[in-house]
Amino acid sequence: MTVQLPPVDPALVEAASTLDIDAATARHKELAAAVDRANVLYHAEDAPELSDAEYDQLFRELVALETAYPELTTDDSPTQRVGGAPSGEVFSEVRHRRPMLSLSNAFSHDELRAFDARVRRGLGLAAAPEPATELRYVAELKIDGLAITLRYERGRFVQGATRGDGTTGEDVTANLRTISAVPAKLNESVTADVRGEVFMPKSEFARINAEREEAGLALYANPRNSGAGSLRQKDPAVTASRLLSIWVYQLLEEGDGSIDSQSSALERLATLGLPANAQYEAGLDIEGVIGFTERWREERHKLPYETDGVVVKVDRFDQQDRLGMVSRAPRWAIAYKFPPEQVETTLEDIVPYVGRTGTLTPVAHLTPVKVAGSTVARATLHNLDEVRRKDLRIGDRVILQKAGDVIPEVVRPLVEKRSGTERSFEMPDACPVCGTKVVQDEGAVRVYCPNAACPARLSQEFGHFVGRGGMDIEGAGWAVLSQLLERGLVKSRADFFRLSVEDLEGLDRFARKSAENLHGRIARARVGRPLARVLNGLGMPQVGESTAIDLARWLAMRVRSDDYPPPSGDNVPDPWFAAIDAELRRIATEEPETLTEVEGIGPLVAAAIGRYFADPATGNVLRELVEVGVVPERPDVPPPGAAVEAGPLAGKSVVVTGTLEGFARQEAEDAIRAAGGKPAGSVSKKTDYVVAGESAGSKLAKAQELGVPILDEAGFRRLLAGDG
Ligand code: IVH
Repeated sequence: MTVQLPPVDPALVEAASTLDIDAATARHKELAAAVDRANVLYHAEDAPELSDAEYDQLFRELVALETAYPELTTDDSPTQRVGGAPSGEVFSEVRHRRPMLSLSNAFSHDELRAFDARVRRGLGLAAAPEPATELRYVAELKIDGLAITLRYERGRFVQGATRGDGTTGEDVTANLRTISAVPAKLNESVTADVRGEVFMPKSEFARINAEREEAGLALYANPRNSGAGSLRQKDPAVTASRLLSIWVYQLLEEGDGSIDSQSSALERLATLGLPANAQYEAGLDIEGVIGFTERWREERHKLPYETDGVVVKVDRFDQQDRLGMVSRAPRWAIAYKFPPEQVETTLEDIVPYVGRTGTLTPVAHLTPVKVAGSTVARATLHNLDEVRRKDLRIGDRVILQKAGDVIPEVVRPLVEKRSGTERSFEMPDACPVCGTKVVQDEGAVRVYCPNAACPARLSQEFGHFVGRGGMDIEGAGWAVLSQLLERGLVKSRADFFRLSVEDLEGLDRFARKSAENLHGRIARARVGRPLARVLNGLGMPQVGESTAIDLARWLAMRVRSDDYPPPSGDNVPDPWFAAIDAELRRIATEEPETLTEVEGIGPLVAAAIGRYFADPATGNVLRELVEVGVVPERPDVPPPGAAVEAGPLAGKSVVVTGTLEGFARQEAEDAIRAAGGKPAGSVSKKTDYVVAGESAGSKLAKAQELGVPILDEAGFRRLLAGDG
């Protein structure tokens, strides 16, 4: 069954919106469970209890509820999943027989020529343009999908895995078996590892998104994401319901080794009955490769699948072996990325948006236009300097692209197309929301609304405060928040904790029960939220989640928890939290430079924190939270004096740069901290290690220049494990 998502039914949405939030929450839970169960019965156990019509009915009601109450749309709602299987899957691990490498990138033809020069040097051949008849390249399309490896034993498909961290991947055998392009049996009884890319064809991506749009669900950003999501499903039947395909490009055959080049391997793959993409060219020199990239830059749009570049490989295996590899990428191959697709559209207006910290950001309103797979109507222009530098004027025809194929960017105006009616953009003198005169600090680019009570600022600030990165008060979504602000029930963060059941009962769609429940959730958020989240929720300038964690630890080392008793009752000030507030306020206002001891806080941020605490409109926020009885969780910090001895990275400063396969940036930093080290943002002589992932740039260069030890991900893991 392909899960046909039904459209949003206005009558059901109407009905859903008559429920109060608690009734809606309860019904949502019920429906989500029923849909989950139906999915499992249908897909995994092949024993459906519901008819398709009954299933549709449940699903429709679920979508309607989420339309009426968007805050119910959690990530694990059945409406948010590819098919219906539970998310957050755990697959068993597979260790790759040979590591699955990544490739370094080239973004221009000159970088391809530089690659050719490196290869020639490495092989001891004459520099271009001298002909090098013994050096030939194969150019293949770079398939934009998910790298996988297939294990065939005596001609039978026995196991398939994702790349994972390159050394160990996830066992997705059952899911791969549902892909018809993966042969269960080869034409010959060979034993081999075959590598390739699983992808979702453009037409399937369009079909799924059309269904999701009809159903009012969030659309998938690109075929790669939805393809990867479809493959990593616990329930193979869900994968089967998505039309995935595969192209293979690498053969590691066990046996006589008669295959001696990439071009012969590609032919052999096809002979064995494997789907090797035929759109490759062999026997090329680098200028031939460049010709190939030029041809496919346009032609690729006609292909039924996505390709984002060309992979260039030295053809002969003996030459590949001689070239070897650097860090985690072979020296004999490179991935050339196509330049981003550019389109022309009209800049209809430039509109200043007021953000959480009051910053006015000019946003381009564009005539909607399709670029790199989605329709774009807005693009941030970042700040006034950027608008000036690009000389953008309202009414201009402009070139638009997606940076990294994701974030829309206005590249430049088409000056030659101007009619003379275009207008330049000026930042308004007054905040477009509250009318307060805006401010631009001396020497700064940023223009901001200084009114701490500006409704545009407040609604975003308070949303941030009660959101997941802050006090995490469930059910205090947008609908509730805007009413609380409008009715003047909440004027400060502390006011959330002063709300009575009666206050909440007066809100639209709230009954006694739902008011009591939200009141209960607020009361529970009062106690035990990590100090870092409370600090993050304040929205101090430039203090995001990561800095808030460092700041909380730093404060907890100065204000030792053991010196303070727990609060003496409910809703009374916590002595430790009061001391934290006093210490932070004192330092911020009297000696802000001391704050630069905190990772991620430099002199400018320290000064901004100083101003935050000196400003009567914001400086008392923590104190008020103390007064209403907020009791944060006290961070675990090493006892005095023990700090430096603990952990394999004790006292070491480590910079992470580029993308790591197995760690998000935050995870890498947490791991460094857990090992006793200090994650740092910039490379200096004091840096002990630089961990360089894919696309590492200037920090890697700096480390090389300063002779700082550089680690790849495997080295990083060893270091964390203490066997550096
Ligand atoms: S060869 C050691 N060939 O792109 C060489 N990779 O950005 C291994 N990819 O990790 C890769 N199409 O997942 C190769 N024709 C192709 C490819 C291809 C897509 C992927 C692959 C690789 C990534 C590098």
